[in-house]
Amino acid sequence: MDKIVVLDFGSQYSHLICRRIREFSVYAELVPYNITLEELQKHNPKGIIFSGGPSSVYNSDAPIPEDGIFDMNLPILGICYGHQLIVNKYGGKVKQANKEYGSSLLTIDNDKDLLNGIGESVRAWMSHGDEAEEIPPGFQVIGHTESAKFAAIASEEKSIYGIQFHPEVVHTEQGTEILKNFVLKVCGANQDWNMKGFIESEVEKISKIDGNVLCGVSGGIDSTVVALLIQKAIGDRVKCVFVNNGLLRLDEEKEVEEMFKNNFKVNFTVIEAGESFLNKLKGVEDPEKKRKIVGEEFISVFTEFAEKKGPFKWLAQGTLYPDVIESGVSKGPAAVIKTHHNVGGLPEWLNLDILEPLKELYKDEVREIAKILGVPEKLFMRHPFPGPGLAVRIIGEVTPKKLQISKLASKIVEEELMEAGLYENVWQAYASVGDDKAVGVVGDERKYGNIVMIRVVDSIDAMTADWTRLPHGLLEKMSNRITNEIEDVTWVSYAISSKPPATIEPQ
Ligand code: XMP
Repeated sequence: MDKIVVLDFGSQYSHLICRRIREFSVYAELVPYNITLEELQKHNPKGIIFSGGPSSVYNSDAPIPEDGIFDMNLPILGICYGHQLIVNKYGGKVKQANKEYGSSLLTIDNDKDLLNGIGESVRAWMSHGDEAEEIPPGFQVIGHTESAKFAAIASEEKSIYGIQFHPEVVHTEQGTEILKNFVLKVCGANQDWNMKGFIESEVEKISKIDGNVLCGVSGGIDSTVVALLIQKAIGDRVKCVFVNNGLLRLDEEKEVEEMFKNNFKVNFTVIEAGESFLNKLKGVEDPEKKRKIVGEEFISVFTEFAEKKGPFKWLAQGTLYPDVIESGVSKGPAAVIKTHHNVGGLPEWLNLDILEPLKELYKDEVREIAKILGVPEKLFMRHPFPGPGLAVRIIGEVTPKKLQISKLASKIVEEELMEAGLYENVWQAYASVGDDKAVGVVGDERKYGNIVMIRVVDSIDAMTADWTRLPHGLLEKMSNRITNEIEDVTWVSYAISSKPPATIEPQ
C-alpha cells in the first residue's frame, strides 16, 4: 500500500490533510515533526507533507525536521509553516508579515503539475503571520495572491513545493485537486487504500497473535466492528462481553443480544448486572458520584468475568484515529498493538495487552467496514449514547420508576422524530425525568405526577450544542403521547438551553 506521511508541526488542520488524502483512496498518516529519519524510512513513504503550525521559522526554538529528511529524494509539499520551512531551508527568506486570515484569490502562474487543472484563479484559505520574502535559488513562483507574492512555489527539479494557503480546508476551492496533483501526479502514489484491503490486512495481522482476547461490546458501531474483525481473525479465541447495567435505552439489551446472536458467529456473553448497578446507585444524587459508581461497577463486573473465563492476554478497544491524535499518543511501529498500557481502569494484575484494530481509522471508514461486515443498517443512524447511560439522563437518584419513565418517554421522542423524518437530522434526543412533580387532571380526578423533560439538540461534535427548534405540532404530539401512555406523568417540558451554558445531558 502506498503511503504519504504528514509531519505535524502543530496546525489545527494537520489531521485534515490525512483525511482529504484518504478520501481519494491513498493512505496518509500523521507523525510528529521530530520523527527520526530511521523511523520515517520504515514508513517507506511515496511523499512527505509538512503541515502548518503556529511557530515562526526564524525563532530559535522553531520546530525543524531532521535534516536527512530533505535528502531522501522524495517529493515534499510544505503547507503554510511547512512552506516557510522549505523557503528557509533552501536559502530563501521568511519575514514577519501582517497576519492574514480568511480567503484570498490565488492567481495561478504555472499550472504544470501542482496547480494543474484548477483554472486561472481560485479562492484559497490563508491563516498565517509570516510569509516568504525571497524564494530560494532554483525555485519558481507558481501562484500568488494580492498580498503574498510567493503564495505557491516549486522546484520541479527536486519535486519540492511550498504553498502559503491551506488546501486541506473546505474553504480552499479545488484544495483536494491540489492535494491530488501532489499525491497522484508528483508522488505517483497508487489509489490502493480501501476498506476491503484494510480488513484483509488487519485480519492477517491479528491472526498472528497468541492468547485469548477480551472484548467489551456496547452495541455501538466501534466495539461491534472491533469484535467482528477479531472474530474473523481468531474465531472463538475472542470473547465478547456485553454488560447490561440496567441503564440502557428501552429494550436495547435485547436488540444488542439479538444482533450478535442472529447476525454474527461471535462468542458472546451477556452479563445481567442491572440489579448490582442499581443497588450501588441507591440514594446517590450527585452527578459525578453517579458517574464514578457506574465506571467502577463496570470495571468490577469486567474483572470478575476476566478472572472466571480467563486467562486473557489481550483487551480489545475501539480507539479511533482522532482519539489517538487528540491524546497525543504517538504510535509504535506495530500498528495494531500497544503493550501493557492499562487503559480503561482495569487492574494491572490482569496483565492485559491492548489491541486497537481501528486506531488508524476515521469514523466514516469504520462505518464502511461495518457495512462490508454486514452490521445492520439500523446501527449506523443511532444517536450517540453516554457510557453511564440513563444515570446521567435521570436527574437525582436513579430509581426503577424514574428509569421506566425515562425509557418509555425517550422511546416516544425517538419514534415521533423518526415518523417526522427528523431523527437523523438531530444530534441527540431523549426524555429525562427528575423528582419535580406537578398537578394534572385525569378524567375528573386530580393527579400529582412527574414532569418529563424532552431534550433534542443539534451539534457537530458535542462540544457545543443548540436546542432544536422542533415544529410545535411535533412537540405537542410527543407531549400528548407521553402523558397518555405513561402513568404518573402529568407534565411535559422542552429544554431550550443551549450548550454552553447548559450541557447536553442534565447530569
Ligand atoms: P455533555 O452532557 O457534557 O455531553 O454536554 C457531551 C456528549 O458526551 C456524552 N456524554 C458522555 N459520554 N460518558 C460518555 O461516554 C460520559 O460520562 C458522558 N457524559 C456525557 C453526551 O451524551 C454528549 O453526546
